[in-house]
Amino acid sequence: MPDEITRLPDKQPVLRVMPMPADVNPQGDVFGGWIMAQVDVAGAIPAMHRARGRVTTVAVNSFQFKQAVSVGDVVSLFAEVVETGRTSIKVKVEVYAERNPTRPITVKVTEAELTYVAINQHGEKQLLPIGH
Ligand SMILES: CC(C)(COP(=O)(O)OP(=O)(O)OC[C@H]1O[C@@H](n2cnc3c(N)ncnc32)[C@H](O)[C@@H]1OP(=O)(O)O)[C@@H](O)C(=O)NCCC(=O)NCCS
Repeated sequence: MPDEITRLPDKQPVLRVMPMPADVNPQGDVFGGWIMAQVDVAGAIPAMHRARGRVTTVAVNSFQFKQAVSVGDVVSLFAEVVETGRTSIKVKVEVYAERNPTRPITVKVTEAELTYVAINQHGEKQLLPIGH
């Protein structure tokens, strides 16, 4: 399937990162676990802001790899809180790759939704603070 060319969203990414040769699988594409790790870190950032403290990942609700990522792509991760509960925070993460520097294109490579839980210093769940 050809890359679906798009544009970066008109908002700030929470992370921008470039995969290195050590991050590839035997086929030469970036290993899915590397992308999952970046998504987990990116999703935790708005979750920590909302919790105003520590969070832990309790669930990966959905995860879709739409396109492969290659070494040298500039990978931008956008994350926003989509729902909150008593202690939990659901975050949507969208990942884009900017590739082919001589004739740059941007493609959406991954979409995921994760749930984090606010925790105290002992790792126990705690209520989210009131607000936003
Ligand atoms: C996260 C943790 C503190 C939750 O503790 P718990 O006593 O099991 O908590 P609960 O079952 O009451 O769930 C807490 C919240 O998470 C939500 N939740 C729990 N499991 C969930 C799941 N599979 N999917 C979505 N949300 C889930 C609950 O609905 C609840 O939300 P609410 O308080 O907003 O209503 C505990 O399970 C834990 O420490 N897990 C390990 C986390 C970890 O190590 N993550 C890193 C993995 S590498």
